[in-house]
Amino acid sequence: MKVLLIGGCGFIGSHVADRLLADGLQVRVYDRRPELFRTPLPGVEYVMGDLADTAQIYEAMSGVDAIIHLVSTTVPSTSNLDPEADITGNLVATVRLLEMMRAAGVRKMIYLSSGGTVYGIPRTDPVAETHPLQPISSYGIVKVAIENYLHMEHHLHGLQHVVLRASNPYGPRQGHTGIQGIIGTHLWRIAKGEQVEVWGDGSIVRDFIHVRDLADLCLAALNSDASGCYNAGYGEGASVNDVVRGIDRTVQATGGAPVVPIYKPGRSFDVPRVVLDITRARTDLGWSPKITLDEGIAESWDWVREQIGNHTH
Ligand SMILES: NC(=O)c1ccc[n+]([C@@H]2O[C@H](COP(=O)([O-])OP(=O)(O)OC[C@H]3O[C@@H](n4cnc5c(N)ncnc54)[C@H](O)[C@@H]3O)[C@@H](O)[C@H]2O)c1
Repeated sequence: MKVLLIGGCGFIGSHVADRLLADGLQVRVYDRRPELFRTPLPGVEYVMGDLADTAQIYEAMSGVDAIIHLVSTTVPSTSNLDPEADITGNLVATVRLLEMMRAAGVRKMIYLSSGGTVYGIPRTDPVAETHPLQPISSYGIVKVAIENYLHMEHHLHGLQHVVLRASNPYGPRQGHTGIQGIIGTHLWRIAKGEQVEVWGDGSIVRDFIHVRDLADLCLAALNSDASGCYNAGYGEGASVNDVVRGIDRTVQATGGAPVVPIYKPGRSFDVPRVVLDITRARTDLGWSPKITLDEGIAESWDWVREQIGNHTH
């Protein structure tokens, strides 16, 4: 099977590429920039281009059996600043992508949606796929709209599609810009000798999934005949304070100083608790997450320290 990874040089995409290669699949990556932390992978065909460039993307899908769409041009916290750019960069570009796929005869897509935003403020705990979709950010609204277009394409034109509503992925190659999640952000700050910042009192609870478990789920989705939406989380919650305590244990175990966070005022868009019910993915896709938060934090810390070492020597 030959698979096109759109956004395959990103945090999640880079792990999906690893997983597919390990399974013996042929991988072509389409992205507007190379990977940030690694040199190009042997055996992968790279095409540099923008999701909005329909002619180039049409060419890139020639001979491909399936597409995994891992591009987002926005992040939840800033998408409301310019909803129009969010709609154009993600929704319009993806609707065009679906048209190209129909023309090229590519009839399978895995799409990375967002379990942390499509449901809005959760009314149940945990949150199952049947929960109402009432996002409170443009990012979430656009994700829901894309999910609906995929469903329409399935219904009208037989596209097999698996939507993965990812929770909070973390792990090696998570960026340190502070927009991709707290575990990467905290670890990078500690490694650079900076203090960790916590927004609010640290009681908010999220569902953290190791990025390799998420990559495994992408492969399971690729190998399945299922179509529909699937929560993609660990299925258990951890508070921001739990995460800080886990990081503290890991850092001290490697000879580092105790981690003492600075507490800042909470942010209005942070809902108190989002934990995903992952029964559907377990049942239909035969998948389950394997990496515990403690194991994942320890591995991510080793990776961050390696990166810092590489840059200073
Ligand atoms: N990281 C998270 O916390 C998280 C959580 C839930 C869902 N997701 C979703 O998973 C997907 C992948 O996220 P990620 O964390 O790997 O992000 P990322 O930013 O690390 O990777 C995205 C990749 O897409 C590329 N890209 C962006 N805009 C592009 C464009 N217009 N044309 C071509 N390439 C473009 C980037 O260069 C990057 O390599 C996204 O759809 C995101 O919304 C991420």
